[in-house]
Amino acid sequence: MTRRDSVRLVAGSTLLAGCTIPHHAPTAAELSGAMPMIDAPIVLATWNHGKPATERALAELAAGHSALDAAERGVMVVESECPDRSVGLQGWPDRDGIVTLDAAIMDDTGRSGAVACVRGVAHPIALARRVMDRTPHALLVGPGAEAFARSEGLHTGARPLDPEQERAWREWLRERQYSPRANSENHDTIGMVVRDAKGRMAASCTTSGLAWKMHGRVGDSPLVGAGLYVDPKAGAAVCTGLGEVVMRKLTSCIAVERLRSGASPAEACRDALHRLVEAGPLAANVQVGLIVLAKDGTHAAGALQPGFTYALGTAAGVTLHEAPAVA
Ligand code: GLY
Repeated sequence: MTRRDSVRLVAGSTLLAGCTIPHHAPTAAELSGAMPMIDAPIVLATWNHGKPATERALAELAAGHSALDAAERGVMVVESECPDRSVGLQGWPDRDGIVTLDAAIMDDTGRSGAVACVRGVAHPIALARRVMDRTPHALLVGPGAEAFARSEGLHTGARPLDPEQERAWREWLRERQYSPRANSENHDTIGMVVRDAKGRMAASCTTSGLAWKMHGRVGDSPLVGAGLYVDPKAGAAVCTGLGEVVMRKLTSCIAVERLRSGASPAEACRDALHRLVEAGPLAANVQVGLIVLAKDGTHAAGALQPGFTYALGTAAGVTLHEAPAVA
């Protein structure tokens, strides 16, 4: 099987062993992404922690909320509780022992909001939404973003590292080795794409970024076109993985632009990921995962390497899958 073939099979990826199969399992055609689910809500989110986030997003949609609300509130679940320490204030700190967070949200009217390198904000995705809704800007960073959070009542105040963060940081300080690992807790951003029953689409990303990053480092997650992208004529995409790779190639935008040119989600996924490696193979420790949702509800996912998991949520329930690798 060629690399291209393996990406074509992306949406036929296996359900993960040990994961709960919904009572009303989606049909093979739905899982394959081959059958558009018009007027049916659909949510996809990155990694295993995408499952509780997707459940929350589906609940928001079932309650009549918009794709944008679902994309915001879904990922808030992981901002509140992220056992792998890659999202929210529980995330691993940077080299200076400081937790800084990045987040972005975008809808299909071309509006977006983002925050980067913020401290003391429990829900950076909510702050990103406020940037979108209540400021003339698209991205606020650092102390300016924190001041805005205070004015919006979203700043939760400085908090010391918890014992596990403190222990892990002090352990890291002993060696001071900086080497991101593929599929590790180092870069397990939550990214989500949503299409509601009215056909509206939205995307969201939130992360504590790379563990042990330099202070001030910002990844792809808060950058429109890199970590997320939505186009009303085409669809939506989100990325996870090593931000330095994604932000140089605008992987989410490339995928959505391919949809706009008539490619299927699997083709768009394949093409955007191949763009990352066309100049040559990347280091073995580089992982990038991509989820693509077309406006008709068809979808696909892929990654540079095995190990990228994602959640798929439909009216039938939420299932976890592993995306095939293309490099
Ligand atoms: N993809 C998340 C990051 O690199 O920060």
